[in-house]
Amino acid sequence: MEQAMKDFFLFLSKNKAMNAAAKKWGLRFGASRFVSGVTIAEAIAAVRKLNQQGLVCTLDHLGEFVFSLEEANESADYCIKTLEAIHQSGVDCNLSLKMTSLGLDISRELCMTNMRRILDAAKKNGNLFVRIDMEDYAHNHVTMEILNELLEEYDNVGTVIQAYLYKASDDIDSLKDKKVNFRLVKGAYKESAEVAYPNKPDVDENYKKIIKQHLLNGGYAAVATHDDNIIAYVKQLEKEYNIPRTQFEFQMLYGIRTQSQIDLAREGYKMRVYVPYGNDWYGYFMRRLAESPANVKFVLKGMFSK
Ligand code: FDA
Repeated sequence: MEQAMKDFFLFLSKNKAMNAAAKKWGLRFGASRFVSGVTIAEAIAAVRKLNQQGLVCTLDHLGEFVFSLEEANESADYCIKTLEAIHQSGVDCNLSLKMTSLGLDISRELCMTNMRRILDAAKKNGNLFVRIDMEDYAHNHVTMEILNELLEEYDNVGTVIQAYLYKASDDIDSLKDKKVNFRLVKGAYKESAEVAYPNKPDVDENYKKIIKQHLLNGGYAAVATHDDNIIAYVKQLEKEYNIPRTQFEFQMLYGIRTQSQIDLAREGYKMRVYVPYGNDWYGYFMRRLAESPANVKFVLKGMFSK
């Protein structure tokens, strides 16, 4: 997609007025293709359907721009309710979350308290795994620090490494001995060339490099991509280095490349779908539009064909 269009949607994703208004609208503009619903019950129903197709899931309660203690605690409560609903319903699913929604921008202590509450609830509800999504570079160092601290107390937590960052490979090696469960991605935010590769071919090369590095280090890799070349590369590594399928999984987003998701599951790979839900869908939806012209076409078609 034209860089200008990408930047436009990323700019829109940060618009606080639109974000606030969208919470009152319910899912609109075709967002329901990418967001499973507004309530937990809707989200669990979507997960159950995916499970029936052989796909496992991770649920994410959407939340952005959290600047008050009440909102941060409420967001943590939602994470806990989600864990309880996963356990009670018996679906095959874990949890993903963003620490800014738990108060990271208010105070690190508040965020830690909420993280511990969530990880304790995850233990209590069937020892579920909790993935800390990686946000923009401004939150990267603190996220890695918090992960390090939590790993001293919990074994059901991991985070995400973004291949566009120059530091990605060093981050993987710094935690080599802890055999961390990392989700490996290309990276979704707009970052400066001081910290991230500005050119896509370099990002793709570094992505391959860190996937191989983490797998050969013996760590668990959740390779989260819609890119066929990367998927083929992982399959090639699997054969070349005899990597057991229990050491990695593929991940894709809800509503994107759904047939490929099913195909990978049928080939016997663990395929996890990232399933977002909640009324704070606007920023997430705009970032999906920024990623792909196909998604913009889909939304425009939906808007103008009625
Ligand atoms: P790339 O963008 O190169 O696309 C390759 C091909 O895939 C495209 O040509 C197109 O065919 C298809 N494709 C890609 N995106 C599409 C879309 N939106 N719609 C339709 N087709 C599409 N990032 C981050 O910074 N922090 C995080 O925590 C996460 N978490 C995360 C979880 C999961 C499960 C996924 C799949 C992705 C993330 N990401 C993320 C996003 C990630 O960093 C990246 O921006 C997107 O996955 C797009 O990159 P691809 O690897 O898919 O390839």
